[in-house]
Amino acid sequence: MRPEVTAFFDEATNTISYVVVDPSTNRCAVIDSVLDYEPDAARTDKRSANEIIDFVRRHGLEVEWVLETHVHADHLSAAPYIKQELGGKLATGSEITTVQNVFGKIFNAGTEFQRDGSQFDVLFRDGDTFRLGEIPARVMHTPGHTPADMTYVIGDAAFVGDTLFMPDAGTARADFPGGDAHKLFRSTRRILHELPDETRLFMCHDYKAPGRDTYAWETTVGEEKRHNIHVREGRSEDEFVAMRTARDKTLGMPRLILPSVQVNMRAGQMPPPEDNGVRYLKIPVDTL
Ligand SMILES: [Fe+2]
Repeated sequence: MRPEVTAFFDEATNTISYVVVDPSTNRCAVIDSVLDYEPDAARTDKRSANEIIDFVRRHGLEVEWVLETHVHADHLSAAPYIKQELGGKLATGSEITTVQNVFGKIFNAGTEFQRDGSQFDVLFRDGDTFRLGEIPARVMHTPGHTPADMTYVIGDAAFVGDTLFMPDAGTARADFPGGDAHKLFRSTRRILHELPDETRLFMCHDYKAPGRDTYAWETTVGEEKRHNIHVREGRSEDEFVAMRTARDKTLGMPRLILPSVQVNMRAGQMPPPEDNGVRYLKIPVDTL
């Protein structure tokens, strides 16, 4: 029940995507893939996604699942492209509808934009189970960073999205629209208390950390419990919320939040083209 996990690090957005393989069936899941985006020219590039596609083909893997841990605010998702090339069911958390409502309003999306999550094949709820090949998997709803964050537990490996960072980096911010530091703390408690200490944890982001000059993205529940600078055992919710709230006030918006969110709320699809055939992304002024 130990999947093989291969990480793909995108240095431009500090994102880690994963291919998770059941070695007994060669079935796999692709988690949090990246569509490269150069904002000055508003140009997309499939280089990062093609690395994953090449890896899957080279190893003769069959994609069963294309999973998103949440609506990312720092990179565009390549999930629709991965699905188009390799197949698999595209899934995320059912609270995506909340995120779609919040950002649908911010971007004044038209009625063409369905806020019911129907852009995905599967909307998971807390406690739902699935299989990756023969490996049992389950889903935890771990909100806080956003309302819809999910943690995918596949065998002995958990993909926590932005709910936890490496122990020396702590946690992700909770100040995006719909974010909640109290909920984030409770979600970290669930991950650390409901999963065995030896569970492997895989992060969605890493930015290095004071005293660490290499990127890292794999740890364990036990390590996080003992050493996480924000949420290790003994930290109280009030202490965490005060720290998180103060720190979030000092952070600027991620460079790609505007393109990322309006594409990712549509499961990684661009908005429909206008009557000249061009697709446009919007920039709301003085809104975020
Ligand atoms: Fe995120």
